[in-house]
Amino acid sequence: MKFSVTSKDLARSRHQCLVVPVGKDGKTLPAGLPAETRAAIKALVKSGDFSGEKGQQEMLRPAPGLASQRLLLVGTGADSTVAARDWLKLVSASARAVAATGADNAALLCDEAMVSDVDRAWLVRESARTVAEALYRFDSFRSKPGKGPALNKWQLQFAGADRGDRKALRQGEAIAAGVSLARDLGNEPPNVCFPDALAKRARDMAKTYEKLKVTVLTEKQAERMGMGAFCAVSRGSEHEGRLIAFEYQGGRGKPYGLVGKGITFDTGGISLKPGGSMDEMKYDMCGAASVFGTVKAICEMDLPVNVVAVVAAAENMPDGRAARPGDIVTSLSGQTIEILNTDAEGRLVLCDALTWTQNKFKPRSIVDIATLTGACVVALGSHAQAVYSNDDDLRESLLAAGEATGDRGWPMPLWDDYQEQLDSPFADMANIGGPKGGSITAACFLSRFTHDVPWAHLDIAGTAWISGGKLKGATGRPVPMLTHYLMSAAGVC
Ligand code: BES
Ligand code: MN
Ligand code: ZN
Repeated sequence: MKFSVTSKDLARSRHQCLVVPVGKDGKTLPAGLPAETRAAIKALVKSGDFSGEKGQQEMLRPAPGLASQRLLLVGTGADSTVAARDWLKLVSASARAVAATGADNAALLCDEAMVSDVDRAWLVRESARTVAEALYRFDSFRSKPGKGPALNKWQLQFAGADRGDRKALRQGEAIAAGVSLARDLGNEPPNVCFPDALAKRARDMAKTYEKLKVTVLTEKQAERMGMGAFCAVSRGSEHEGRLIAFEYQGGRGKPYGLVGKGITFDTGGISLKPGGSMDEMKYDMCGAASVFGTVKAICEMDLPVNVVAVVAAAENMPDGRAARPGDIVTSLSGQTIEILNTDAEGRLVLCDALTWTQNKFKPRSIVDIATLTGACVVALGSHAQAVYSNDDDLRESLLAAGEATGDRGWPMPLWDDYQEQLDSPFADMANIGGPKGGSITAACFLSRFTHDVPWAHLDIAGTAWISGGKLKGATGRPVPMLTHYLMSAAGVC
């Protein structure tokens, strides 16, 4: 998809479809519409055929007063300005409706005065990204690839587009590319997307981007280094585990750290999961996928900041060599862990990755991202990722980045009171904390492996993919949140 911003005269721009947002009862319309088009919209509202209700769409052909073939009116449902979230929903629905017509090119008429509390850069960046996300498809595994959307060109039409808009557009495209990569990796089947396959993808990225360097540790190296927790998970699989480190050098100073859970398939191990929907445990590497996607986005936009991003990639399988419930292992930090449930493997791979990241790369902060607990899905559903942090500023930055992109998080407690649920009679800690507050005790476990560094943990178990049904698939979350967080840190938004 090719995006551009334009402020060409609408009466003469030939789009196959022009999308025009219309406020409730036609009261608000974007600037720049020819008088004839405005009159036609008003007449349509008066006739009762179109009222500008939220979600309402009306396709007009021919398009009155315009050179475009079709005019798609979309209701904002707002008396004056529409909420930013609703705007993005409208953009997404419009993109799908336009794609369904088979159009090859289209434009969306935008006006920042119609959207609450956003600036022009936001409108350009987030609208472009949302169109790209709405048209995403994954059919690389069909023998006859389905007919993809014919849409090739999408323009954002404004009164008075300028260079600032083009910069915001590039950012939107970069984020969209990152989201798309994260979705692809998540959707790939687990027989194709295994730890070394992820490592190869990372090495390929380092060949593409000059500012990106990748190093990969093998499972044997991890074992020699003392990553007893990581290896306890990985050793039951025929696929060797990998620790993948991206170093992006775009600015000065200590890097911002990211760490992603990359369980390419989670059977539960010896504490085997029940069979229903087990296929969805291919998505247990979506934290890692979001790290790949965020790295891609910052490379694409050439963000002036330093980032170190580590992926702990392993497969959790039951096997003669697999860890047993009751095993005690020594983590890289030196702390011992009694593995009471081999299905609580995410925290085991992450704890060693967190220690390694701190020791080796000395990041200024660390955010880990993981599809860590089913309990998080119970607590927050699929709308917000859980945000845990030992640092108020870091937590606030992540929450703000979530609000700004619609990729929202919600704060969760890390109180000491929860820590005792991890007591073990035999080791420094157990890897599970019992049935109560499962997402919180998992976060408490991780908190024991980050010291003297601002750290946050995102439990994305509910947000990383959509389960079952027709819409099943990876969402690419929280790439928008993470990228926005780094963009704010770099001062570019
Ligand atoms: N990957 C799962 C968490 C998960 C389950 C995410 C379902 C999304 C949907 C994780 O490794 C896991 O199995 N967690 C256990 C922890 C428990 C054994 C303490 C869980 O949530 O049941
Ligand atoms: Mn598990
Ligand atoms: Zn898991």
